[in-house]
Amino acid sequence: MATINNNYLKLKAGYLFPEIARRVNAFAAANPDAKIIRLGIGDVTEPLPEACRKAMIKAVEDMGERGSFKGYGPEQGYGWLRETIARHDFQSRGCDIDADEIFISDGSKCDTGNILDIFGDDNKIAVTDPVYPVYVDTNVMAGHTGPANEKGEFEGLVYLPVTAENNFTAEVPAEKVDLIYLCFPNNPTGAVASKENLTQWVNYAKQNNAIILFDAAYEAYITEDNIPHSIYEIEGAKDCAIEFRSFSKTAGFTGTRCAFTVVPKNLKAKAADNSDVELWKLWNRRQSTKFNGVSYIVQRGAEAVYSEEGQAQVKALISFYLENAAIIREKLTAAGLAVYGGVNAPYVWVKTPDNLSSWDFFDKLLQNSNVVGTPGSGFGAAGEGYFRISAFNSRENVVEAMRRITGVN
Ligand code: MLT
Repeated sequence: MATINNNYLKLKAGYLFPEIARRVNAFAAANPDAKIIRLGIGDVTEPLPEACRKAMIKAVEDMGERGSFKGYGPEQGYGWLRETIARHDFQSRGCDIDADEIFISDGSKCDTGNILDIFGDDNKIAVTDPVYPVYVDTNVMAGHTGPANEKGEFEGLVYLPVTAENNFTAEVPAEKVDLIYLCFPNNPTGAVASKENLTQWVNYAKQNNAIILFDAAYEAYITEDNIPHSIYEIEGAKDCAIEFRSFSKTAGFTGTRCAFTVVPKNLKAKAADNSDVELWKLWNRRQSTKFNGVSYIVQRGAEAVYSEEGQAQVKALISFYLENAAIIREKLTAAGLAVYGGVNAPYVWVKTPDNLSSWDFFDKLLQNSNVVGTPGSGFGAAGEGYFRISAFNSRENVVEAMRRITGVN
């Protein structure tokens, strides 16, 4: 009989968001009249910017003419999109990133999981706690961990707790690790990293020959000055970091699918024979073999994000969600809750009242207010006692959810 990848059996229950959806669906079935407001999964709700839609319609027309029809595109993405990204997102901020170091993909979730294909199985891996669950689960699936303990911590991973006590900013570990996942602006806490903090990480990585996997999917939500938007704003980061970016939350592409990963050409890691190998070559080889690129139509839509019209529309979209976050912060603070994040990120991280556990608070909100959030403990043991509220919804729903939770208009 065929056998399975036994590592999957180590995973806890379901992936967090399908598990929440399962509980919410059960509640909805038992309470068909409840008007449930979903502020759980960070999925955008507002229409795709017009500039993107227009560009995609034009691209569909291109596909209808023999002269402009496109078959397979380059696995790495079209040159015109990679060049536009390099110029706008990196070179304009003083980061020396070339177009051919940018790999277009269908999502950062996929890329942060797939990147493990090019790393060995013997790396010591550090994650913050709480953490975006994909980083942990994909390492479990790849066999990089032992079993989980009763708190849900997997043997073999180095967990770096981030709580209100350390301002949700992990310090570099005392021990030596090889791969470090950092996410800023942070999902789930909404925290951002200062230049000083990221400099410590880059210095640590260089001293320990470690690689930072830097997830900047929420970069467009940074509102405060002097917060780095890219790890490559830190000197030396090109020698020790891979960066993940996405159009999902920036331009409403969660259903359209487009993202990119930056793998600098001079970034190297060790082979078994002790030689240094360029990770760019391995990722290029991996993508060429396992991926056939993002559709031409979607890449044209993503390119339009950088047009003058697109930039104005995307900024308006982000401001809209950040205003939602400000309303959530303001109403919950007035109700006496301790809230974090939501200033440079679309997530508000809330301390549960009365020492309720994260899942007890989830149940209470669902039952009493018919509002869905995400239990902090779903992101890791140190998330226990916290709760994440997403700002991705209509204004009407956000205002109504806050009225129901606080009992105040
Ligand atoms: C979240 O809610 O954390 C996000 O939707 C996750 C994701 O982008 O995959």
